[in-house]
Amino acid sequence: MRLVVDTTACQGHGRCAANAPHLIVLNDDGYLTESVIEVPEALVSEATAAAANCPEMCISVVDD
Ligand code: F3S
Repeated sequence: MRLVVDTTACQGHGRCAANAPHLIVLNDDGYLTESVIEVPEALVSEATAAAANCPEMCISVVDD
């Protein structure tokens, strides 16, 4: 699984990092700037929570 992020749509709400603290690191201004984030098996629930809680719907879950 990986997360694919539309970084141009990020408004810095920070809910992704709050829901996936082991997976998502925001930049110094509080924006998500990584466009692809590989998800280890142990962090699948964090990843899906991050995607579900972004109010801008920037984050898509891609399950290969
Ligand atoms: Fe940005 Fe959404 Fe996270 S707006 S900081 S990707 S919750």
